[in-house]
Amino acid sequence: MKVPMVDMLAGYPPIKEEIENAVKAVFNKANFILGEEVRKFEAEFAAHNGAKHCVGVANGTDALRMAYIAAGIKPGDEIITSPFTFIATSETISQVGAVPVFADIDPVTFNLDPKSVEKKITPKTKAIVPVHLYGLPCDMDAFMALARKHDLIVIEDTAQAFTGKYKPAGGDWKYLGTLGHCGTFSFFPAKNLGAFGDGGAVTTNDQKIYDTLIQLRNHGSKVRYHHEMEGFNSRLDTVQAAVLSIRLKHVEGWTEMRNQVAAKYAKNLEGVCVTPVVPANARHSFNYYTIRFDSKSKRDNAQKHLTEQGIANQIYYPIALHLQEAYRHLGGKRGDLPVCDEVMDTVFSLPMYPELTDGQIKTVTDAVKESAGVRI
Ligand SMILES: Cc1ncc(COP(=O)(O)O)c(C=O)c1O
Repeated sequence: MKVPMVDMLAGYPPIKEEIENAVKAVFNKANFILGEEVRKFEAEFAAHNGAKHCVGVANGTDALRMAYIAAGIKPGDEIITSPFTFIATSETISQVGAVPVFADIDPVTFNLDPKSVEKKITPKTKAIVPVHLYGLPCDMDAFMALARKHDLIVIEDTAQAFTGKYKPAGGDWKYLGTLGHCGTFSFFPAKNLGAFGDGGAVTTNDQKIYDTLIQLRNHGSKVRYHHEMEGFNSRLDTVQAAVLSIRLKHVEGWTEMRNQVAAKYAKNLEGVCVTPVVPANARHSFNYYTIRFDSKSKRDNAQKHLTEQGIANQIYYPIALHLQEAYRHLGGKRGDLPVCDEVMDTVFSLPMYPELTDGQIKTVTDAVKESAGVRI
């Protein structure tokens, strides 16, 4: 049985009519640029997350770039982040003239390691960007403590982790993206809240960051042809906002379904490989489901076996950022971030979407077991 990595159409039939009506309404009004659907979605998204403000932007990459600028990052500043993420997190750091500094990751969660981050702090450090990888919350208590101690800004890259939650010590559960100074989100179709094209957002409780973002996304202007600064053309599209408002109503249910798929994967794979570990103070949003083997050869063997059976799979990420050609000038090499080096050689991700059936889950886990020589 072929199993895809994601199936965008599987969840579509129950909401098809509602979405098509919402999209037609935008077509009929022709309010394509910053129409009222954008403001409506921003209000709903902020309310869902418990954030004061939300600014809808063109994609999750622009969300990061504009969040850095709005948070006051200046050329020459250093921003510490994970080497084990998509390049959008770090390319945008360079694009605002700052310098990405990669710290090592935690061997269990694969998220940025606060202890390694602290060692990388210099007088030039201005911000930390924890990336909630695959949907699993970072150790936000530790990052916020570091930020207070060293007067740093924390921008959470929440592209993969919308609906993930974290319970700070002594506090109530909070949605990811609301623990730092701002959170950035991607609505790329394969994300937990996917648009029918590109989309993104930044949430913040900081009025000044919000006001700046509102200008930045629209050429630096609040009033047409009055530009207080240079900005970008990076507005959330009105058609996408209309789609997102409808999908937002279902997203919690989809995350529950993802968690159920994850629990079944974990049960079937017990003793075969390492499955995701979710700390007690975290709710995983399972944008990806990533397993780990005790050697590269076992990982490569499992991956090859799944591919031969028509089961989609992917390594997120096969070459960590400190080893990428694009960052050769930073001088990173194997051995600098040893945990990351080892993790990238031993993980890969299985198909993950809310509607995966028990039959599909069994097909996937049977193939992983076969590759490991485990009797089915
Ligand atoms: C961790 C992370 N940050 C940022 C992005 C960028 O989002 P977008 O594709 O919407 O620009 C992605 C997209 O995959 C991502 O995974």
